[in-house]
Amino acid sequence: MSCVQIDDYQYPGGWRNPGSAAARSRWACEQLENGEILSFPKLPFVLPEEDRQFLLPQRQSKFKVHKNISYRPKQDALRGFASDEKEDAERLRDIMRRFSANTVQFVSQVLAPYASKWALDFATYRPEEEGRDLPLNKRNDLLHVDAFPSRPIYGGRILRVFTNINPEKPRVWNTTDRFAALLARFSDDVGAKAIVAKAGKGRALRRSGAAVLKALGLRVPYRSPYDVFMLRFHAYLKANGDFQQNCKKIRTEFPPMSTWMVFTDDVPHAVPSGQFALEQTFIIPQSALVAPEKSPLRVLEALCGPGLAD
Ligand code: CO
Repeated sequence: MSCVQIDDYQYPGGWRNPGSAAARSRWACEQLENGEILSFPKLPFVLPEEDRQFLLPQRQSKFKVHKNISYRPKQDALRGFASDEKEDAERLRDIMRRFSANTVQFVSQVLAPYASKWALDFATYRPEEEGRDLPLNKRNDLLHVDAFPSRPIYGGRILRVFTNINPEKPRVWNTTDRFAALLARFSDDVGAKAIVAKAGKGRALRRSGAAVLKALGLRVPYRSPYDVFMLRFHAYLKANGDFQQNCKKIRTEFPPMSTWMVFTDDVPHAVPSGQFALEQTFIIPQSALVAPEKSPLRVLEALCGPGLAD
């Protein structure tokens, strides 16, 4: 796994050679599904300078429930913002709405095979990272693959697009061997087959439980065996001190105003330092992947048996 810099895509204009745009987009999807990080040295979409200037001094809510400031495109709703000023909150929501829409436009060009098939997830603003007092499971400075407690993905992929809006400092990432290698190494220790078997047996009960809670107006989603395992694996990796300390790490610095994208359910990542990043998440369904056999779902099914996404 490494970081591949894209030099022939720019805003405005898109791919430098329009004749090969379709081939370049497919190539970009293949790289991502191979566990590469794709980086763009210059901002590949519009982000007005006044928006960036407004974002830099903003702070997030101190409530632990909010890990970041988040924007939910479907509801046009902002969460986790510290200011009580209604005007500030509305301006921030406008900025996040614009950022989300502009990122969607950019990604639908650069990763055309995924466009129109994805489910648009949250956008976030991360004004802090260093020295945060968060519970282990929410810590971002420990290596992990992503899994969302509140939003099961049923084998879909978590694609995240980040932009470092810090005027001076890079955002630093550590990465290590991909999901397949970590699963091969730790499947016995984490108890992968037992977790998946138990989640499979409890399916009907958890489905009806989720339906009852929904009828009561509570949103506790049903999790497929895949989702159950990915959450457990996320927590397992963060709690494994020997792995955190001793695994081989690749350090990458993302300079100010650069953008990068990666499948964070496959590529383990940690953020030892960095401040002020914008991010938009996309859930890419299995049917949109150019190499579905490389996805964490298929890797887990090869070990534990098929049908884990239902
Ligand atoms: Co993460």
